[in-house]
Amino acid sequence: MIAVVLVGGEGTRLRPLTLDEPKPVLPIGGVPFAALMLDRLAAADVSRVILSCGYLPERLRAGIGDPPAGMEVEVVVEDEPLGTAGAIAYAARGRVDGPYLALNGDVLGDADLGALVRAHTERGARATILLTPVDDPTRYGVVVHGPDGAVERFVEKPPTADGLGPAPWWVNAGAYVLDPDVLADVPEGRMTSIEREVFPGLVGDGLFAHRGGGYWRDIGTLESFLAANADAVGGAVATRLGGADGAVLVDPAARVDPAARLTGPVRVCAGAEIAAGAAVGPDAVVGAGARVGEAAEVARAVLLDGARVGARTCVEASAIGRDAVVGDDASLVGCALGTGAAVAAGERLEGERRPG
Ligand code: GTP
Repeated sequence: MIAVVLVGGEGTRLRPLTLDEPKPVLPIGGVPFAALMLDRLAAADVSRVILSCGYLPERLRAGIGDPPAGMEVEVVVEDEPLGTAGAIAYAARGRVDGPYLALNGDVLGDADLGALVRAHTERGARATILLTPVDDPTRYGVVVHGPDGAVERFVEKPPTADGLGPAPWWVNAGAYVLDPDVLADVPEGRMTSIEREVFPGLVGDGLFAHRGGGYWRDIGTLESFLAANADAVGGAVATRLGGADGAVLVDPAARVDPAARLTGPVRVCAGAEIAAGAAVGPDAVVGAGARVGEAAEVARAVLLDGARVGARTCVEASAIGRDAVVGDDASLVGCALGTGAAVAAGERLEGERRPG
């Protein structure tokens, strides 16, 4: 099986974290997000992955790490953004000759992609959309379908749930199985959306939906990025981290002072240091080589590799970029700092809170 994964977005809602790192290499529980995605594809017997990329391709290539054994990964670079359908078509052209998986590359999930492929084959579908249940449909594309899974209509970001039946609502989860001819007519060299321009034209012509289960979260905002990290460590989503409710995962090569307090879910990565009196967690990840100073408090937060938090500083609901430094006696709530940023001692910053 071949999978095309869309990783070409600039991740504007996650700036400044994404100013020099593409979203797929940002860490989830200390592991590049793309590596978790490749694990999931390997579990669905995918042996070849085409990463459809345009933004910071070299960082992407360097940041994904070694693919799982037996998997080949190719990075295909667009000269300009082509939109979801254009990008999949461009990446798939000349590389696929049978049904293939296509995925948005910013969704953390654990629904069985192998089951999605089987549903596609068993129904003789031309395209099959993975659905996930949500309690609030207003931010998603609701896919209305019959009992046999045949898609009847799409309702993109409905203002209310009126007329959409009872909860939960089943929405496009950003993972598809496509027959090769489905995108054959996508025009070259212009933005085309699979959700808005391709799928509506396939209604009644071989377009099916498959209800998946398990965990699902788009990691595209600060709030959802932090929640995805907490969920990976807390075991809400199945990943290689082996997270569990209240888990305290400390790498053997980390140094945690005996007088520091860790409250799970928390992960402390290799080479990280936690000083005496510091309180880390719940819902915290301290990246490789990051340091938390004496009596500092870090909760619902992610410190990327090499980040430093000063003594008595409080970091809450925030992401501290790679090698960024927060001085002593500072306070950060709801903030994202970019790579190498510096916050002076005693500074108090409160960020805008955006819904996940
Ligand atoms: P924002 O700028 O914060 O909206 O993030 P984004 O740029 O990632 O956009 P969005 O979340 O809508 O994209 C969903 C997925 O599609 C992400 O995995 C993107 O990387 C990917 N994507 C969006 N547009 C393109 C494109 O034109 N080309 C490619 N290759 N991927 C894209």
